[in-house]
Amino acid sequence: MSTDARSRGFGTRAIKAATRPPRVEQQPAAVPIYQSATFHAEDVEDYAQLIGFQKPGYTYSRLENPTADAMAAAFAEMHGAESGYAFGSGMAAIHATLVTLVQAGDRIVSTQAVYGSTRSLMERVLAPLGVETVFVDPTDLDAVEQALAGGRTRVLYAETISNPTLVVADLERLAELGHGHGATVVVDNTFASPYICAPRSLGVDVVVESATKWLSGHSDVIAGAVAGERGFIERVRTVATDTGGIVAPLSAFLVLRGMQTLHVRMDRHSASALALARQLEAAPGVAGVAYPGLPSHPQAAVAQRELRRGGGMLAIDLGSGAAAAAFIDGLQIPPVTATLGSVVTYAVHPPSATHRQLDERQLAEAGIAPGLVRISVGLEDVDDLLADMALALISAAEAGLGA
Ligand SMILES: Cc1ncc(COP(=O)(O)O)c(C=O)c1O
Repeated sequence: MSTDARSRGFGTRAIKAATRPPRVEQQPAAVPIYQSATFHAEDVEDYAQLIGFQKPGYTYSRLENPTADAMAAAFAEMHGAESGYAFGSGMAAIHATLVTLVQAGDRIVSTQAVYGSTRSLMERVLAPLGVETVFVDPTDLDAVEQALAGGRTRVLYAETISNPTLVVADLERLAELGHGHGATVVVDNTFASPYICAPRSLGVDVVVESATKWLSGHSDVIAGAVAGERGFIERVRTVATDTGGIVAPLSAFLVLRGMQTLHVRMDRHSASALALARQLEAAPGVAGVAYPGLPSHPQAAVAQRELRRGGGMLAIDLGSGAAAAAFIDGLQIPPVTATLGSVVTYAVHPPSATHRQLDERQLAEAGIAPGLVRISVGLEDVDDLLADMALALISAAEAGLGA
């Protein structure tokens, strides 16, 4: 049989022709989307070295992919970390990070107010595997220390700015306490973003973020990332290899695109959020406003030290779940949904949406009032947002539901 390529059948020739990547000598302006499941090696020995990570390169996109690597490297660089790994969601990043650090018999000390799925991961996924999580108030450093000392604590876990209560963690003090007890200090920096806060410069070991939010910034992608020391990230990659949480190439591309405008967007999100926080603080029917950029914030001094700006998130207490629902339903600009960190403004009722996994006692412990509304401030014209919120407050009050 002839081995001349031209004599092969149509199908063979079509597949060869359509899988030949172009050779590009010039540097592209954007990171290409390497939408390929596999990469070819020179020979069996070469493949074995590549897949064993004995030489740099790519084999299979569940392990490593060039676009995913570019996103991970950019995330690590923004956080001043040696290395990073990019995931298909924030939860995948948090899961792989924790699983890398704990085994049966270990303890995690976590702050009380954390994202609902993070709490659920600790209580419903890790607890049955023998990993206990103790939840503490991050502002009560004695309680943190007691919890750290109470068992084989491997991880101290906190959110820079907590979801949804906007508590600002004193990361410097928490890092000192965690290290004093031999724990790895892991911080979810999603609400802040690397522009607003750089936890590693405050002594934190590992930073995780949902890149679905401010990093990408346009509500068009689900992704996550972790950054830390090279050796730790190698271990995370080992876990990710066997659990399969890596980011998809197109998603990584979208995150990379968002990262390029993060600083500009966050300045504008912060300025609009401050204006809204000030208006809402003075408005009748609002029992409380939590915004890290307000002097009235309980951790204003910590926020001043740790955060570049107040960020785009704020929370208001409208006194009851019914008032919160009337307010959200009365808003014309924000759609009714439950995400954050976008050009679009969102208002959400955490007890019935993002933190639905918590029962009444857990909600109370985490400081999540029944009338809490979490607002993620977008890039719409601020005057329009101010007017929309003022009107929604009136409709809540007219319904006799104000605080
Ligand atoms: C603080 C925080 N961490 C993690 C996550 C999980 O991110 P993802 O939805 O990308 O898995 C969220 C999602 O809302 C969040 O708010």
